[in-house]
Amino acid sequence: MKADLLIRGISQLVTAESPGPKHGAAMRQLRIIEHASLAVSDGKILWAGPESDWSGDAAAVVDVGRRAVVPGLVDPHTHAVWAGDRLADFDARISGVPYERILASGGGIWSTIRATASAPADELIRLAKPRIDALLRSGATTIEVKSGYGFSLDAEIAMLQVIRALSDASPARIVPTLLIHVPPKSAADRAACVSDVCQTLVPEVARQKLAAAVDVFIEKEAWSAAEAEPILASARQHGLAIKLHTEQFHRVGGLELGLRMGALSVDHLEACVAEQVALIACSKTVATILPGVSLHLGLPPAPGRALIDAGAAVAVGTDLNPGSSPLFSTATALALSIRLNGLTAQEALVAGTVNAACALGLDDAGRLEPGLPADFLVLDGSDWRELVYTLGANPVREVWIRGVSIPSCTAEGSGR
Ligand code: NIG
Ligand code: FE
Repeated sequence: MKADLLIRGISQLVTAESPGPKHGAAMRQLRIIEHASLAVSDGKILWAGPESDWSGDAAAVVDVGRRAVVPGLVDPHTHAVWAGDRLADFDARISGVPYERILASGGGIWSTIRATASAPADELIRLAKPRIDALLRSGATTIEVKSGYGFSLDAEIAMLQVIRALSDASPARIVPTLLIHVPPKSAADRAACVSDVCQTLVPEVARQKLAAAVDVFIEKEAWSAAEAEPILASARQHGLAIKLHTEQFHRVGGLELGLRMGALSVDHLEACVAEQVALIACSKTVATILPGVSLHLGLPPAPGRALIDAGAAVAVGTDLNPGSSPLFSTATALALSIRLNGLTAQEALVAGTVNAACALGLDDAGRLEPGLPADFLVLDGSDWRELVYTLGANPVREVWIRGVSIPSCTAEGSGR
């Protein structure tokens, strides 16, 4: 075998064993190779195994000095593009005003829409780039980014074009989602908006290939399940995948709708009840939980432990956004899922790699296996569990994408 590059000196090489979502107890099954090497050719993994078993040639060799290597993380849920800030909301919430009341009175998400929809594209790119870089430094080599702060059809398209520009400029793989976030105030405008989204926005987004999926925020202060249904149907009809923000504050039935319509993922689930846990567990839909929201808004954590015990496939994301989760580290989201949602370290790694990839409809991310892109992380310690143990420092020493080390992500390059 002839490799472009051999990574050696790996104390532990850790990965999920096979493609496809891992359900229930399978979320605890990792392949851990001690004293490993990883060979890369053409940006892809050529070989991975015990160091002593490598018998090929490599044009270059990098010794990582007895450190652990894990797959590049997949962040399956972010709103990384926004303008303005939500510091006034933060103050209001600290003094006891609920998130939903701020939203109902025209603040919250609405204030971010006002700031974002009026910002020029180059300003949105300038603001979002360091956020994407922060997620990348924290280990995310694949990052979903949603629109949703545009509101008008044109502003939503403009946001998706900004996401495309960010994707072109970043070494990370960016997966764009069209988010239909909050409805207009009057009933007539809501109905007209659903029809415009179905007949104009979704077809145009599909035509320009600006998004891989359509997401709808179903909640008392947002869309109803009945309003979301035609939007999701239109997405499916135009070849786009579907996902939902649902059961965040109340049991609103979005979860059942998502399962019935074959959503890739149902996200949030802080208000999901036992009966709904059982429904997700016997579906193919990934349950994406977002511990940063529970931490920042003080919501009850989504029932991660119960979901896995019931047999569901759980993913974890940052939900990076200015209002409900100003969490700029994908590794920290995994660390929080252990503390807040009751996941084990093994489950958290699977939730942030192979299962998160499945939540985006990807089968070639989040694993270390011959033929897949060589996207991997060199951790700061010899034990991979440092990744999900560490709070407040970066456990990721090097980020490699397609077999290339990202300079701004190395301890030296980032000035760490
Ligand atoms: O995932 N719940 C709705 N949307 C976002 C929050 C957006 C915001 O507060 O700006 C979320 O929590
Ligand atoms: Fe979100």
